[in-house]
Amino acid sequence: MSTLKIRPEEQGDQSAVRAILLRCFPGPEEAHLVDRLRAQGDAEIMLVGEEGGEPVAFVALSRMRAPLKALGLAPVAVLPEHRNRGIAAEMILRALADARQAGWEGVFLLGDPGFYNRFGFTVEVAQDFQSPYAGPHFMALALRGDQLPETSGAVEYAPAFSEL
Ligand SMILES: CC(C)(COP(=O)(O)OP(=O)(O)OC[C@H]1O[C@@H](n2cnc3c(N)ncnc32)[C@H](O)[C@@H]1OP(=O)(O)O)[C@@H](O)C(=O)NCCC(=O)NCCS
Repeated sequence: MSTLKIRPEEQGDQSAVRAILLRCFPGPEEAHLVDRLRAQGDAEIMLVGEEGGEPVAFVALSRMRAPLKALGLAPVAVLPEHRNRGIAAEMILRALADARQAGWEGVFLLGDPGFYNRFGFTVEVAQDFQSPYAGPHFMALALRGDQLPETSGAVEYAPAFSEL
């Protein structure tokens, strides 16, 4: 049975989160990205996953500039020794539930449809939006009902992403 505990990131978690991101990605870019999202006030939902009291996973949703109330999902990371047990899926589902609860209308992401389709993200929902990331990996999910309140227009990730 999973002992995963998911909770909002707290001030004291920042160095553990940085360590998770540095281990999960090839370079420091994602760790810097998360630092900038916090510093620039665009970190809307940041969750830490704990196993045995230790942070092992992280997911972030940040404010986008869009014609609807939209968040961008990135990054998501699970320490290698805890993978393939559904932790990322639980973290993502919780982040989406929190976003829905807080009144957000949609979530965009850049990722592998083979993984993200299971949460309801589709390329089709995102395809009429203009974004530098538009293409076969740019996906979106409506959080209220089946459709986004707007289905086209320009969508931009928080400024911290343009420094990636
Ligand atoms: C991607 C990641 C978060 C998955 O964590 P996890 O807890 O093992 O995920 P789950 O157990 O919920 O799901 C496992 C599924 O993710 C898939 N997966 C693993 N890495 C993936 C990747 N980079 N892209 C797409 N799918 C991936 C696995 O193949 C598996 O698929 P399956 O269920 O069809 O077999 C983890 O591998 C990780 O931290 N990777 C490095 C960071 C990264 O690439 N993050 C995603 C981009 S922001």
